[in-house]
Amino acid sequence: MMICGSCGMRMDGRTVLACKERIKPIVERGHVPTISAMGNMPVLKDLVVDMSSFWSKIRAMKPWLEPGSEALPEKESLISPAAMQPIQKEALCIMCGCCVSECNSMEADPEFFGPAALAKGFRFVGDPRDKPNVERLEAYNTKHGIWDCTRCYFCNERCPKGVDPRDAIAKLGAESIKEGIDRDMGAKHAKWFVHSARTTGWLRETELVPKTQGVLAAIKETKFAISLARHGKVPPPFPRHVAKDVEQARALHELLSEQGRAGAAGIVQGERGLAGAAHDREDHLQQLRLKAVEP
Ligand code: SF4
Ligand code: SF4
Ligand code: FES
Repeated sequence: MMICGSCGMRMDGRTVLACKERIKPIVERGHVPTISAMGNMPVLKDLVVDMSSFWSKIRAMKPWLEPGSEALPEKESLISPAAMQPIQKEALCIMCGCCVSECNSMEADPEFFGPAALAKGFRFVGDPRDKPNVERLEAYNTKHGIWDCTRCYFCNERCPKGVDPRDAIAKLGAESIKEGIDRDMGAKHAKWFVHSARTTGWLRETELVPKTQGVLAAIKETKFAISLARHGKVPPPFPRHVAKDVEQARALHELLSEQGRAGAAGIVQGERGLAGAAHDREDHLQQLRLKAVEP
């Protein structure tokens, strides 16, 4: 179950793997689900979609290890499970296309690389045996690349394997900035928000356009800014609002810098933290359940 990735379809409008859906509770509710083909791919017949663009985008990611100029080992290239841990989630992808079916960005721009291909991209960028990371990141920072994602998170929500493609895209963005590949406006915005949070503890959106696109661009947006201000959506830039606990934001930033958590490493660490917290919470709930049934 949930291995071959070939049974993707929409059930009541959301993309699922049919073999993962339990039909009994649906029948018991007396509900008749509406079944249709996956989205963002041309329908060939009934539930069959043409996945050729899906595969060509996966191929464009060069989904194989490139060991660089180092001499290849005579036997297999061994690696410890700990070294593979940062790409553990991305390596789970079964290429079912459920994430692509739900992608908002692809609806607007069918050329967008998409969540599955970009998750595959991070699977290789994050692999310590793969060498040409900068070349890969340059290729993903082009038009239709990582910064065209709208961050709707539907791909994370619908992926049946827990790959969390949106998080993989965030890791590619963080790695790009770490490598100094920050020409895209999306990268500039991300950098500004980090600076803004570190200095004041707030995301200072009113300064975003002048700080990232320049004063001329800001002047062009004056009419829009006045309209936002009229609706109370623009806090006055002066005096600068500094959060009461800004020191905590600064300390966190400093700690991550000291630990060398720039790039994807910081996001992977966050994922581990969240997984640990979820495990502790489940453990705690289990204890409560056991107590409740004690005589
Ligand atoms: S990322 Fe998830 S939803 Fe997307 S193709 Fe891979 S397994 Fe399927
Ligand atoms: S988060 Fe990005 S990649 Fe994922 S579904 Fe939304 S637009 Fe597509
Ligand atoms: S039948 Fe293989 S994933 Fe559903």
